[in-house]
Amino acid sequence: MNFNALGNTSVVGLQWGDEGKGKIVDLLTEHFDVVVRYAGGANAGHTVIVGDQRFALHLVPSGILRPDVLSLIGPGVALDLETIMTEIAGLRERGIKVDRNLLISNRAHLVMPYHKKQDLLSEARLDPDRKIGTTARGIGPCYADKMLRSTAFRLADLYKPDAFRSRLRDVVADRNKVFNALYGETEPFDADAIADQFLEFGERIRMHVVDTTQVLHEALARCERLLFEGAQGSLLDIDHGTFPYVTSSTCTAGGVAAGAGVPPACIHDYVGVIKAYTTRVGSGPFPTELTNATGDAIRVRGHEYGTTTGRPRRCGWFDAFATKYSMDLARITQLCVMHLDTLGGFPEVRVCTGYRYRGERLKIFPPDIDVLNEVEPIYETMPGWDAEINADDSYEQLPLPARRYVERLEDLLAAPITLVSVGADRLATLHRQTAPPAMVPAR
Ligand code: IMO
Ligand code: MG
Repeated sequence: MNFNALGNTSVVGLQWGDEGKGKIVDLLTEHFDVVVRYAGGANAGHTVIVGDQRFALHLVPSGILRPDVLSLIGPGVALDLETIMTEIAGLRERGIKVDRNLLISNRAHLVMPYHKKQDLLSEARLDPDRKIGTTARGIGPCYADKMLRSTAFRLADLYKPDAFRSRLRDVVADRNKVFNALYGETEPFDADAIADQFLEFGERIRMHVVDTTQVLHEALARCERLLFEGAQGSLLDIDHGTFPYVTSSTCTAGGVAAGAGVPPACIHDYVGVIKAYTTRVGSGPFPTELTNATGDAIRVRGHEYGTTTGRPRRCGWFDAFATKYSMDLARITQLCVMHLDTLGGFPEVRVCTGYRYRGERLKIFPPDIDVLNEVEPIYETMPGWDAEINADDSYEQLPLPARRYVERLEDLLAAPITLVSVGADRLATLHRQTAPPAMVPAR
């Protein structure tokens, strides 16, 4: 990947999350001035390996690991103060600088304790086949309150303590009634105890709280380079994903400008991140899922267990049909393929190039999950590769079938694959020559 050729760049996950966005953001960061999280919340789990250290970040942008870069959390993020403070403390303990290099939008909505409880209780109440399988981080209830407006709290509210406490008492009184009616006897929330705790949180993170929108506009005026760190993946998008088995935010490219507060035209490049196979955590359709020994082998080799919840991830073959749909929701200028090493050792590998539904080949990715649950993937089978991949090799030294596989993905997705990851470490990264300009969509 030619880092210098990138303008303001957004890193977008093109599957159901966990594509390896954290590693890509970490690699790109040293070429940028500001790294911005703009959507989602502590449901995200971005893992970055630096030397023998492993960092699992949920809210703090992955940019924090480079001290000269400004890390920023925008208005679109569902902010869990308890999680972010634990994360900040953990980073500081490990010698990572976290002071004014981390800024948090005063417009960000707060995840409240009753949001997390509601996430758990409402899932528990559903029939097994209707559970979404959320991360229980209170994301859905927090965004629901944001849309409802009158019951929502933003970070800025913590700096008007009397008004915060008084409105919280009303909101909590109503919430206790609803919880009691819907979920039976539950321990009522104590509004004053929450207010005390949140006002203290507010004081502890005060140094980080600003109008990040203004900060970004000033950075744009100084022609600084901005990097946007996507959370989740396009197929989990609230509007365009496999609804209702999605998250509650816009995680396609369209969410970047809205969640960060920058003009869409100021984002020049959308870098798509895909895993060499597919994974999904939680419920919902997954046409290429492998519920057999191959799926289990991918899970074990790829360490496919959730960063946020520890749940085993569902694993399956690469789905080029679903990924192409995701790419059409963004204008992906280049692709990064992650975990190619995990696919080594299988006698053959498969790629899904389309779906058949009741005998007919589908032309579009279906919006109806009942259809998606019934489709039969159409596979192309390719020879596998045995050899262990040596992280020091160049792309050209990869086994030929591995290169053929990458190049087949490039053909199917019609975008240049400029980076191939063969291990979690920063160094286990193979760069490819940028493909001919004809393959890059016109600006
Ligand atoms: P990153 O940023 C993978 C999934 C959950 C669940 C659904 C809804 O690490 O790629 P939510 O808690 O958001 O209401 O859960 O979305 N999900 C993710 N899956 N990676 C993520 O983030 C995810 N964030 C949410 O598993 O199926
Ligand atoms: Mg994750």
